[in-house]
Amino acid sequence: MQPSNSNSEISAQDIQPIISQLTLEEKAALCSGLDNWRTKPIERLGIPSIMMTDGPHGLRREKGEGFGNSEKATCFPTAVALASTWNTDLIQKVGAAIGEECQAQDVQILLGPGINIKRSPLNGRNFEYYSEDPILSGKIAAAFIKGVQSQGVGTSLKHFAVNNQEFERMSVSAEVDERTLREIYLRGFEIAVKEAKPTTLMCAYNRINSIFAAEHRYLLHEILKEEWGFEGFVMSDWGAVNDRVEGVKAGLQLEMPGNDGINDKKIVAAVQSGALEEERLDEVVADLLRVILKLAEQKKTGVTFNTEAHQELAQRAAAESIVLLKNEDSILPLSKKRFKSIAVIGDFAENPRFQGGGSSRVNPTKLDIPFQEIYRNLSTGMDLSFCNDSTNDDYLDNELMEDAQQAAQLADVAIVFAGLPNSYETEGYDRQHIDMPPSHIQLIEAVAKVQPNTVVVLQNGSAIAMPWANQVKGILESWLGGQGGGAAIANVLFGRVNPSGKLTETFPQKLEDTPAFLNFPGENRRVSYGEGLFVGYRYYDKKQIEPLFPFGFGLSYTTFEYQKMELSHELMTNEDTLEVSVSVKNTGNRAGQEIVQLYVSSDGNFPNAAIKELKAFAKVALEAGEEKTVTMTLNWRDFAFYHTQYKSWVTISNSFNILVGSSSQDIHLQESIHFQTTQNLPPIFDKYTTFKEMIVHPKSSDLVSPLMEQLMNGMFMDAEFPDEQSKKDAFEFGKAIVLDLPLCKAVGFSKGKFSEEMVEELLNKINT
Ligand code: BGC
Repeated sequence: MQPSNSNSEISAQDIQPIISQLTLEEKAALCSGLDNWRTKPIERLGIPSIMMTDGPHGLRREKGEGFGNSEKATCFPTAVALASTWNTDLIQKVGAAIGEECQAQDVQILLGPGINIKRSPLNGRNFEYYSEDPILSGKIAAAFIKGVQSQGVGTSLKHFAVNNQEFERMSVSAEVDERTLREIYLRGFEIAVKEAKPTTLMCAYNRINSIFAAEHRYLLHEILKEEWGFEGFVMSDWGAVNDRVEGVKAGLQLEMPGNDGINDKKIVAAVQSGALEEERLDEVVADLLRVILKLAEQKKTGVTFNTEAHQELAQRAAAESIVLLKNEDSILPLSKKRFKSIAVIGDFAENPRFQGGGSSRVNPTKLDIPFQEIYRNLSTGMDLSFCNDSTNDDYLDNELMEDAQQAAQLADVAIVFAGLPNSYETEGYDRQHIDMPPSHIQLIEAVAKVQPNTVVVLQNGSAIAMPWANQVKGILESWLGGQGGGAAIANVLFGRVNPSGKLTETFPQKLEDTPAFLNFPGENRRVSYGEGLFVGYRYYDKKQIEPLFPFGFGLSYTTFEYQKMELSHELMTNEDTLEVSVSVKNTGNRAGQEIVQLYVSSDGNFPNAAIKELKAFAKVALEAGEEKTVTMTLNWRDFAFYHTQYKSWVTISNSFNILVGSSSQDIHLQESIHFQTTQNLPPIFDKYTTFKEMIVHPKSSDLVSPLMEQLMNGMFMDAEFPDEQSKKDAFEFGKAIVLDLPLCKAVGFSKGKFSEEMVEELLNKINT
């Protein structure tokens, strides 16, 4: 079937004639997959089948049936690494390259990106996700989606929603309050949906406040479709469906993989019995066909991709993702003048860890080996030795340890490769702790004991503890950098690339310091999100817990200076946008890139506020000595919170500080602004509303303040006080009691002066 207007949106007029020719059975059949990876075709009406595959950091197009054997594709840096670049242009380019590979392999939807919030470092899939911060996750996802979709290929933003652990992932209920849901767990999805219009979303396996994501009408329909205007379709995670008919009603258009017709029959039966309206099924089919037809139309034939160019892009992205965590004595970059001989130690130098386990595992087109890349980068006159300790073992045997120490001692500098083995990070289960294997720690400590110039290169997909951090001079976090990670590491070690990545998740000192420590991963199929809004740096800030490395942190081989902060307004309303500009200067002697971070901190009455929240960021490239002005824009949403009674985003008149810095804990400049709300929200008071709430609302404060006074006077009418101080204390106590009093309780407290009828009358006056 060809839509009437090629190259544009498929319209309702295109779809309607097809739907009217479909039988009930065909409509139901379209609601589930043909097999593991394809939708069902209906040939007599020209409805094609489209193909979808994992995702997210490259393509995993299985060869025939079966897990583990997939076509070769470029393995780009995993999500954690990509996010650490904070470079949305670069991420968009990676997305476009993956989109091109999809076209080359006849794949119409890439199953990614995944943007679940890193609530705990223990989540086994953290390497597949971007950040602990929703704005950063949303912006990066939007860039990635735009990139993939620029090639005419669809995406599936996943896992919607509140899927933050692997433990009991198919049954657990994530118990989260509404404000936290909106501000932390949905915000990234909202940004990505609104800014990049992903063609599809994938629902999560878990339940959210008892309801399975696959049948969650509030999430799938009311929020996603009605509020955010999502126009694509939602597919289930593989096997996430529980009650297919409820899913159709709720807004789950496609069940994946296919169900051998079992659930299709249930849909047919539900329509026949009247339990499901056929109009609803028609809507679901229309949502599916709009996307399927469009993606089929956008298929390109004869596409090939340049593996070398993609390898270079993978190397570039991996290099930009590396975070320099420590660089005492400027031990890096390795200079020929200082270090004539280098000892490379550790198995990961030869057998790198470059991606995580599970559905995202890509079969790479090639693989850079760090040791070989280091060798290729050696300047003449530099010596290299290699000691491959089998560091995958839990404990290191003495002989291996002695070999490593000997190699380290004979060299001027030791580079130890360590991190987390494969078995520590995979889809399907969580970590039990945040420690590296004992053998890796032993190796680092043994080498550091004999060689003061020790640098550790880490390969891991999420935060780890580093009890050895003080014993070494340099730490490079190279993540799971994909197939180009080896060259990236060598380029950063030798200074061909100046590191510019920053952490998108806090590295804690110890597991006990982490926000979800007391609640993760729950029990009896229930996990309480007890830390509420205080996830990631919001928690460490509020509890004043010193992390090992804070959110947003990362060093460079050069230095930057921040100056001249300017705000476009001192007073801002909901109608304005605020331009914040700062000038950043490279004060060192080599070119580099800085990630400028903007946080908003509320001052005063903002309810339950975090100390600060990231609202914008920009990555800027500067030659040595160069200075550039960076401008970031905020709007009213950056000053709003989700109000659970109004069920919407609310601003209040309040003062805020705008903070600009190089990490969440290195704020260099700040200015304040007053936000004057222009939202005219009607009060939503009832008889349980307290005087505290009414006294601050413009519509009720004049009406309730005399009443409060009467109540206070009534309380102490006949009281006798021994002295003035006792009287003052009593009135303070009385004021606190009255402020917390629900309106209806005023009847009993007023000694007959205030009746139930008067309560009702007052509420009518205020609420109308
Ligand atoms: C994962 C998804 C993945 C799907 C298909 C599921 O187990 O949770 O992320 O896209 O499998 O492989």
